[in-house]
Amino acid sequence: MKILITGGVGFIGTNAASYFFKKNHQVTVVDNFSRKGVEKNALFLKKNFPKIKIIKSNVSSIKNYQSFLNQAEVVIHLAGQTAVTTSIKNPKNDFENNLVDSFTLLEYLRKNNPKAIVIYSSTNKVYGDLKAMKKFSPVDENTPLDFISPYGCSKGATDCYFLDYHRIFGLKTVVFRQSCIYGPHQLGVEDQGWVAHFAKQFLFKKSITIFGDGKQIRDLLYVEDLIDAYEKAIKNIEKVKGQAINIGGGEKNAYSLVEVTKILEKEFGYKIPIYFDKARVGDQKYFVSKNKKAKKLLNWQPKTLFIKGLKELINWQKQNLL
Ligand SMILES: NC(=O)c1ccc[n+]([C@@H]2O[C@H](COP(=O)([O-])OP(=O)(O)OC[C@H]3O[C@@H](n4cnc5c(N)ncnc54)[C@H](O)[C@@H]3O)[C@@H](O)[C@H]2O)c1
Repeated sequence: MKILITGGVGFIGTNAASYFFKKNHQVTVVDNFSRKGVEKNALFLKKNFPKIKIIKSNVSSIKNYQSFLNQAEVVIHLAGQTAVTTSIKNPKNDFENNLVDSFTLLEYLRKNNPKAIVIYSSTNKVYGDLKAMKKFSPVDENTPLDFISPYGCSKGATDCYFLDYHRIFGLKTVVFRQSCIYGPHQLGVEDQGWVAHFAKQFLFKKSITIFGDGKQIRDLLYVEDLIDAYEKAIKNIEKVKGQAINIGGGEKNAYSLVEVTKILEKEFGYKIPIYFDKARVGDQKYFVSKNKKAKKLLNWQPKTLFIKGLKELINWQKQNLL
């Protein structure tokens, strides 16, 4: 199949591009290289998979990759600004990158390639801070949407547009509301990609600042398992088109931030200083994805236990960051 991946030299994009190329698909990636450090991922793709076409472009400059978009059978839309903190510092930039650029892509597909399968990488942040949750339990897709922060708004609105373009125009869109994803090629920083950031701080024997008390719980999903869900959605598009699907590591891979630092202490065999700062706006005390819908529609469930996936991430960091 002809697969076009936006944000394709980012963390999830690099993994997706490699995976689908290895499965004999024709892969094109489009990325504006705005995420710091992604040149490293682009070099990796060029070296290992020279036949993957890399186009340096903003998503909204469609003329730069129009011929590939016209022919794409699958579009995996990952490009975007990914940090809540950055969205608060510069809401307009977040709005343009996430909502306007995504809308431009979707409208173009409606007019020029309405048969393409279109996957959108949404987020658990569309459910807000979940303060009304009385007892912590895994979150399903019937949970009311509640956009907090400019990032929540831009991702949430895009999520709704992608679903609506199925309802109104019949596009084959699927929205994955992703929990915390981690794995190789992730260039985690304090603002985003916290598992990779924590592991990197350990690797370089630096400190970590935790925002809040560190007891907030997240379900952690290894990137390969996410791509497995994308592949299953492509294969089962008739079942899942127009659906929003929560996707995360689930209860078996749910850890607090402090627990992850303890696991890292064991892995590295030493401690690093850990500081605490005030909680970030909209931060969920608990988010664990209820993966029931993904299981039912796609026969998907996470395969990689966190400890195993974390070792893979650390190995990649040792080979590529030191
Ligand atoms: N990583 C996670 O834990 C996670 C969780 C939930 C949702 N998501 C979503 O998944 C997607 C991919 O996340 P990631 O972790 O791979 O992030 P990433 O930052 O590694 O990748 C995103 C890529 O998009 C590119 N980009 C940004 N704006 C662009 C634009 N306007 N045009 C072209 N390229 C642009 C960046 O240069 C970057 O390479 C994002 O949309 C993110 O919101 C990620």
